[in-house]
Amino acid sequence: MEMMGLYIHIPFCVKKCDYCDFLSFDHTDSFLRDAYVEALVAEILGMKSQNITKKLSSIYMGGGTPSILTAEQFSRIMKVVFDVFEWTEDGEFTIEVNPGMVDVLKVKAYVEAGVNRISMGLQSDEEALLKTLGRIHDYEVFLESYQMMRAMGIENISIDLMFGLPDQTLDAFKATLEKTIKLEPEHLSIYSLIIEPGTEFESQYKKGLLNLPDEDVERQMYWWAHDTLESKGYEHYEISSYGKTGRIGRHNRAYWTLESYLGVGLGAASYLNQNRYKNIDNLKTYIKKSHQLDQIRILEQTGNKINKLEEFFFLGLRQFKGVNLNELHLEFEESLLACYRPIIKKLVEEEMLQEKDGWIKLTRRGLDLSNDVLSRFLMD
Ligand SMILES: C[S@@+](CC[C@H](N)C(=O)[O-])C[C@H]1O[C@@H](n2cnc3c(N)ncnc32)[C@H](O)[C@@H]1O
Ligand code: SF4
Repeated sequence: MEMMGLYIHIPFCVKKCDYCDFLSFDHTDSFLRDAYVEALVAEILGMKSQNITKKLSSIYMGGGTPSILTAEQFSRIMKVVFDVFEWTEDGEFTIEVNPGMVDVLKVKAYVEAGVNRISMGLQSDEEALLKTLGRIHDYEVFLESYQMMRAMGIENISIDLMFGLPDQTLDAFKATLEKTIKLEPEHLSIYSLIIEPGTEFESQYKKGLLNLPDEDVERQMYWWAHDTLESKGYEHYEISSYGKTGRIGRHNRAYWTLESYLGVGLGAASYLNQNRYKNIDNLKTYIKKSHQLDQIRILEQTGNKINKLEEFFFLGLRQFKGVNLNELHLEFEESLLACYRPIIKKLVEEEMLQEKDGWIKLTRRGLDLSNDVLSRFLMD
């Protein structure tokens, strides 16, 4: 039976962080969250009539802050998921948890449902920086949540950190990473700050109020993290992701390798039968209409070969090992590949790409300028 990933979106946070533009609402009341859970359940139940025959290989509940849900709300959603879909016993089931937003009851419900991986956002261990970011927790609160989940038997934990942050020095970032490594997480996601449109950070940035590190310091942070983590046994397998052996995030890897996934919930994206869909992002409409799939799921792109090839490069090159030439030739006709040859040749000349042992991959320079390199693979 064919496999696919399932993504479940929970669009609520206690308070919006100043840098974040993920689809989530803050200061919501519990009635709205109840209504959303019912709407999500209705959407998932509606999948029964879609005749989706694929078995789930991974589940990822992300947000927002999924751990804002009560244990009962979480279990209700998962009961319906397992009623509708077939699940692989050794599949990867991740939930994003915010520091201070979990308790023993919630973790118990997660474990009972089969959660075997937790992803938690720390961002920084510096108290002043956590405040600047608009986070609602301090380091101690993070540590308590982390240790509680370890004590309850969670063996696979991923921690998110950010760098290139206002007033952050290279030494301070090194100290943050060293302290985090001592906790021995199985996986780390380390993101360079992006000033996203519409965020509080964007308005501060425009007013000149954000003292961001210079670009070369930001790059030193990136490569210092790379060298340090590799020396500690983490594989740098994607631009921002590091995993211990056997702990590479399987769900996210499915996005980069063009495997099928179904997204449920507000604004969730799906990739099914080579077509891309996106759920609407209006909360009230979603809550009213989620039982009518054709009213909430929009077809964004049909699976033609050019789109697929574009994505093959765009997503494949994000991975450290790069794109396999053999696979490329098996999957796509020569006439299509011909359009990309001059682009690849030029990028090799510019020392952004390298071709070696049957793979094309980003060089260090290419990684530093990855947005620019990747965008050259998008056709008009
Ligand atoms: C989906 S978010 C949610 C994680 C979780 N709600 C939390 O905050 O702990 C995943 C991660 O994306 C990163 N992130 C969010 N906005 C970002 C931005 N503007 N620039 C860089 N990284 C960002 C943060 O590290 C965050 O933990
Ligand atoms: S970073 Fe996490 S907690 Fe902060 S607003 Fe974004 S999703 Fe919510």
